[in-house]
Amino acid sequence: MAELQERLARALTKRYAVKAELGRGGMSVVFLAWDRKHECDVALKVLRPDLASALGPDRFLQEIKTAARLKHPYILKLYDSGEAGGLLYYVMPYVETESLRQRLEREHQLPIADALRIAREVGEALDYAHRERVVHRDIKPENILFEGGHAVVSDFGIALAAANARQTDSGVALGTLEYMSPEQSAAKRELDGRSDIYSLGLVLYEMLTGEPPRLSVDGTVKTLERLRHDVPPGVGQVLRRALATDPEDRFATARTQARDGLEHDVQKARDDIQATAEKLRSESTTASDQANAWAEGIQRSWSDHVTEARRRMDARKARHDAKIAQHYAEDAEEYAEFSINLAYSAVEESEYAALEAILARQDADAATAAAS
Ligand SMILES: Nc1ncnc2c1ncn2[C@@H]1O[C@H](COP(=O)(O)OP(=O)(O)O)[C@@H](O)[C@H]1O
Ligand SMILES: [Mg+2]
Repeated sequence: MAELQERLARALTKRYAVKAELGRGGMSVVFLAWDRKHECDVALKVLRPDLASALGPDRFLQEIKTAARLKHPYILKLYDSGEAGGLLYYVMPYVETESLRQRLEREHQLPIADALRIAREVGEALDYAHRERVVHRDIKPENILFEGGHAVVSDFGIALAAANARQTDSGVALGTLEYMSPEQSAAKRELDGRSDIYSLGLVLYEMLTGEPPRLSVDGTVKTLERLRHDVPPGVGQVLRRALATDPEDRFATARTQARDGLEHDVQKARDDIQATAEKLRSESTTASDQANAWAEGIQRSWSDHVTEARRRMDARKARHDAKIAQHYAEDAEEYAEFSINLAYSAVEESEYAALEAILARQDADAATAAAS
């Protein structure tokens, strides 16, 4: 395809500098290019030459006008389009971050909340486009890009141009069949928004299971529940309805699908999170009660130890006091003995004195008698 790049670069050289190929699909090749006028990177998409010649510039530009009319935050803008050197191209913002296809290749299964949010954003873009009477016809992970933290849908209008080219020239190969609704595969001319709803259902299935959709409708939903246990039951119901073979059995609009189905599940997921948080809170209360009880127990047994130690100290002190008291008692006893002895000797001494007094009296009496 280097030849195509050169051809395009030559044809557009005044306005764009074609830098490198970004990727290619069944119908087109996308290049990174420098917009000389606005001095910024852009993505330049060129229709395959055989498709371009089957379609012709008038029809192509007619379909592109449809896409240019759409203005929605979740729809990738269209900057410019035209014909140059027999090539049909259109210009859109260059999205640097990975596409949903690349994210799926990297992560396989997406977190449920992310998958539901992306499906809801794409659903909002589709709902808007359907109300503007535009059917995308090629909803698939390659056409879901991300900008400013939300999904943006690319390639509005392009698939219809390709379908028209196919009708003009049956030699032109079909695009990817994987995500087509049954009525689209059956090449029904009149398609409505419900065909996109079917394709979005398949994309959601792939985001949840990591498996590309290739089973029958009932099989698909049964497999969903087998491949991913944590999918809320409501999501299975939404998918079953989005993937109904008969469009009459699907959601009438992407809006009802988001409101009745996905939002119900997002709400349920929120309720589940709240219930879990509540449970954790009550478990942590129980745990802190338990910890308090333990702390109290430890404190109690600690104070038991302190009391016991005090009791022992008191006993030791009492023993010590008793010993001192005994010493005092012994001293007192000795002192008492000494006092008794002292008393005895005092008594003895007074007895002597009395005796001496008696003797002195006798002596005096005798002297008196002798004198008379
Ligand atoms: N605006 C864009 N910015 C950056 N890369 C893009 C853009 N549009 C398309 N691409 C890349 O180019 C690849 C080919 O795109 P396209 O021709 O639309 O085919 P398909 O959508 O089938 O993959 C995409 O898969 C994507 O990786
Ligand atoms: Mg694309």
